[in-house]
Amino acid sequence: MMSEQLPTLAILGGTGKEGKGLAYRWTRAGYKVLIGSRQVEKAQNAVAELRRLLPEAIQLEGTTNPEAAQQADILVLAVPYAAQRATLEMICAHAQGKILLDVTVPLVPPKVSRVQMPPAGSAAQEAREILGEGVEVVDAFQNISYEHLLQDQPVECDVLVVGTSKAARLEVLKLVQAAGMVGWDAGPIENAVVVEGLSSVLIYLNKQYGVEASGIRITGIPRD
Ligand SMILES: NC(=O)c1ccc[n+]([C@@H]2O[C@H](COP(=O)([O-])OP(=O)(O)OC[C@H]3O[C@@H](n4cnc5c(N)ncnc54)[C@H](OP(=O)(O)O)[C@@H]3O)[C@@H](O)[C@H]2O)c1
Repeated sequence: MMSEQLPTLAILGGTGKEGKGLAYRWTRAGYKVLIGSRQVEKAQNAVAELRRLLPEAIQLEGTTNPEAAQQADILVLAVPYAAQRATLEMICAHAQGKILLDVTVPLVPPKVSRVQMPPAGSAAQEAREILGEGVEVVDAFQNISYEHLLQDQPVECDVLVVGTSKAARLEVLKLVQAAGMVGWDAGPIENAVVVEGLSSVLIYLNKQYGVEASGIRITGIPRD
């Protein structure tokens, strides 16, 4: 019953590591998730792979990125930064009036442990420039490594949520909670530089300390 009231989510590039992990968590929480891809067959293969890990009753479908964007209420962008612009231009018309949850980190290989922000200030601000003011853009999950997502253990990392409006940030905070993590409203889209830049710091820490998936936790604020 409750799932009928939940927004439908489209994960653009949901065939990848981060997108599949988020789909796993959100479908388990009762959301209908559409996996988007450049190729329908690849999307359907990702759905089949996830279905083997999930209960039968979940709502999960695979289709093209534009079709997924058209059908969904909230769009999640989970492609490499190099593919961000092309993917957003393809779904721009279907995004109007909706929220884009951008998980893109503007990494510039090979120096991925060095912060290298795009001219707009962050990938999220670039996304806003591409999509226009009719789309609320929110950053979240940049600091959650995919290794944490595709399993049932609690994730001991917090999620910073920044974005173009408080209302959109609150919607995304619900998705963070549904994914089993503690999220914090970390302010306007201009703060995306910190959230996205932090990913390169975490990649550096992983290498420096020989771990797979370091993360952050906020202290000093009471947790419910
Ligand atoms: N991996 C992590 O732990 C992690 C953590 C936090 C944030 N992120 C960010 O999340 C985003 C996705 O990361 P990921 O590791 O999931 O990436 P990925 O597995 O390398 O790629 C995700 C999907 O993007 C699509 N894609 C790849 N190259 C493309 C291109 N040239 N043009 C259009 N689409 C392309 C592919 O989907 P189709 O071939 O099906 O179209 C692919 O399955 C990145 O921006 C990354 O920085 C990743």
